Amino acid sequence: MRLSANTVLITGGSSGIGLALAEAFVQRGSEVIICGRSEERLEAAQRRHPALHTKVSDLSDVAGCQELALWVADRFERVNVLVNNAGIQRDIDFTRGANDFLAGENEVRVNLEAPILLAGLMVPLIAGKRPAAIINITSGLGFVPSARMPVYSATKAGLHAFSMALRRQLAPIGIQVFEVVPPAVNTGLNPEGRARRPQFKIDLEPAEFVAVVMADLEADVPEIGYGFSADVIRASRNEIDRRFEQMNREW
Ligand SMILES: NC(=O)c1ccc[n+]([C@@H]2O[C@H](COP(=O)([O-])OP(=O)(O)OC[C@H]3O[C@@H](n4cnc5c(N)ncnc54)[C@H](OP(=O)(O)O)[C@@H]3O)[C@@H](O)[C@H]2O)c1
Repeated sequence: MRLSANTVLITGGSSGIGLALAEAFVQRGSEVIICGRSEERLEAAQRRHPALHTKVSDLSDVAGCQELALWVADRFERVNVLVNNAGIQRDIDFTRGANDFLAGENEVRVNLEAPILLAGLMVPLIAGKRPAAIINITSGLGFVPSARMPVYSATKAGLHAFSMALRRQLAPIGIQVFEVVPPAVNTGLNPEGRARRPQFKIDLEPAEFVAVVMADLEADVPEIGYGFSADVIRASRNEIDRRFEQMNREW
């Protein structure tokens, strides 16, 4: 896809991978709207890049997604790209029953339901534009699940399946569907879980990963991985089982 002269809505673009994507699109001459729950983080992003448009938005329920889509429709007639990036990650232990799952934020709503709904809400707005694209951010853990993060892994596997099916559905109306599959990237994701595993060092910075993503988007690569995730996207079932054992040995 062309990377310049777009109007791009990036959910959760106030930090991490989303902010790096926002910066990369702005640098290439696209208009970018970012959203997130924290006004403070959005303002900090805007101070770094005054060209960014920001919107406080909580995508953990249907009303929040609808409100965002309406707000964009009213102000950005030229919107042609949706990046479903906002996500949360939690360690959840089902040996304690449903307690962990119910005690925190709902990954199913934020990581899976919101991107599905936003895709549906944005299709009428982006259809007919050239290019028109939906870019879903999944995870290597959607291909090789983590025993520590079973719900997170399931949401990303679900978003992978949705992306494949949506790509086929929307092709006839000229909307490209990309899936970006990050490996571990050094961001603010799952701070509690990452603090419990200080030995797990992540060297990959968001900007370095996003440089690869932008090149692959420009080359129309439909499923974009890097390092570990590039390997697992195309791995055989035997290879996935081998990596699953390796990754979850300590559980
Ligand atoms: N970092 C990794 O290792 C890694 C690996 C694979 C996949 N990913 C995926 O990459 C995406 C970006 O994550 P990241 O690593 O860049 O983490 P991050 O720095 O924590 O960014 C997450 C973004 O999502 C926003 N967000 C979270 N919940 C939201 C909600 N309910 N409504 C609206 N916005 C919300 C956050 O802003 P607020 O908190 O202000 O709402 C923030 O802007 C996620 O989908 C994640 O699953 C990350």
